[in-house]
Amino acid sequence: MVKIRIGPAKGKLGVLLPGLGAVSTTFIAGVMLSRKGLLKPVGSLTQMQTLRLGKRGEAKFPLIKDFVPLAQLSDLEFASWDIFPDNAYQAALKAGVLSREHLDMVKGELEKITPMKAVFDRNFVRNIDGPNVKQGKSKLELCSQVREDIRLFKKQKSLARMVMVWCASTETYNEPKPVHSSIESFEKGLAASDPSISPSMIYAYAAIMEGVPFVNGSPQLTSDIPALISLSRSKGIPIAGKDFKTGQTLVKTAVAPMLKSRMLGVRGWFSTNILGNRDGLVLDDAGSFRSKEVSKKSSLECIFQPEMYPDLYKGMYHKVRIEYYPPKGDDKEGWDNIDIFGWLGYPMQIKINFLCRDSILAAPIVLDLALFIDLAQRAGMGGMQEWLSFYFKAPMHPPSVYPEHDLSIQHMKLKNTLRFLMGEDLITHLGIEYYDYWGKGK
Ligand SMILES: NC(=O)c1ccc[n+]([C@@H]2O[C@H](COP(=O)([O-])OP(=O)(O)OC[C@H]3O[C@@H](n4cnc5c(N)ncnc54)[C@H](O)[C@@H]3O)[C@@H](O)[C@H]2O)c1
Repeated sequence: MVKIRIGPAKGKLGVLLPGLGAVSTTFIAGVMLSRKGLLKPVGSLTQMQTLRLGKRGEAKFPLIKDFVPLAQLSDLEFASWDIFPDNAYQAALKAGVLSREHLDMVKGELEKITPMKAVFDRNFVRNIDGPNVKQGKSKLELCSQVREDIRLFKKQKSLARMVMVWCASTETYNEPKPVHSSIESFEKGLAASDPSISPSMIYAYAAIMEGVPFVNGSPQLTSDIPALISLSRSKGIPIAGKDFKTGQTLVKTAVAPMLKSRMLGVRGWFSTNILGNRDGLVLDDAGSFRSKEVSKKSSLECIFQPEMYPDLYKGMYHKVRIEYYPPKGDDKEGWDNIDIFGWLGYPMQIKINFLCRDSILAAPIVLDLALFIDLAQRAGMGGMQEWLSFYFKAPMHPPSVYPEHDLSIQHMKLKNTLRFLMGEDLITHLGIEYYDYWGKGK
């Protein structure tokens, strides 16, 4: 196998975060706490997972971080934009995810992260408003300001490289329009302040133009438009998205493949959630909820392939609800009621009640994506990074193929991509070499 040339992970890596809310602050504080050795980065593959190399008998299981050259936690620097001026410590206290006791252990460092003025447009996020917002004559001018912010951050912190991870609020549902179809029309649209260009697209464009890999943690289109996909390809900048796969969809994409692999039918799948954080408030608006609903609903259709298995999945009733319920705070509660059927069509039910913490599940994903997309950049992998589908509810994928939603296939794809990058044999799990009794009876 050929080993890909990968640039070294030397120097500091800047992590740029549009949005300094629950997810961002839980991620930043978590990195600070774990690099001090105070708490463990649980949930992060880059920090805790091993992967197998070679045959099962060889017992070679290095940690991913020892196998591929990743940036060290001690080399991470953070910057953010938000419509509220609270620094990361104040924002984390308001988000109410981590305890004051834990936040106080890294208070000084957190207080130094104050958000830059945001590109914000209430047409895209209707339920919140704040004062820390950029002013500009056109969307192009706002974009230039973001690019200037990026350059300044790099200079001030003497960074070797940067990545951007969108952790700001979910924007309203937006379908691809002619302005998104090519880079020429997109750039004209920026100059003309086209109403279909959202703030998240402005950040994504600014990042790619500055040579910074971009990850979209929310469900709206953002970089998943022909204009930005082709720009990222032509400039050799990796992009990935959309929508962090954290609670209910994580469970769905593990349970649905189980049912399908055993050829068990599904008549209906009703998913409901209550959550009370600011994300919940934003999703209480029909437009933002529509973005989330589309992203959350796509996985089951793709996994079950009802056209191929009409007897099992055709006409399956799938409903997703998200309700804003302030007393819950960041402690989201999800219920799934799954009506299944087995042998001869006899009905059964599965009920799942997941009492999760949204940002506790999202923070390690932000870390892994930041480190892996930086690796992709150093390995010369421009354009969309489908191997990172593992982390997303609505993975970006080439138009010629369907998206891969099955969690275990996504996981295998991620690990095989790492093996491929390092020139190691891919693992197919065929294992034919262990069946030494085969052919003995002839
Ligand atoms: N927590 C999870 O499990 C999870 C899972 C998947 C996706 N997400 C997505 O991640 C995003 C962040 O979630 P959260 O719980 O941290 O939300 P949050 O509301 O706590 O934080 C989002 C922050 O973004 C800011 N913001 C809004 N528009 C902005 C803009 N244009 N520029 C800069 N800042 C802006 C808001 O003021 C807010 O502080 C949301 O879009 C959410 O849907 C979260």
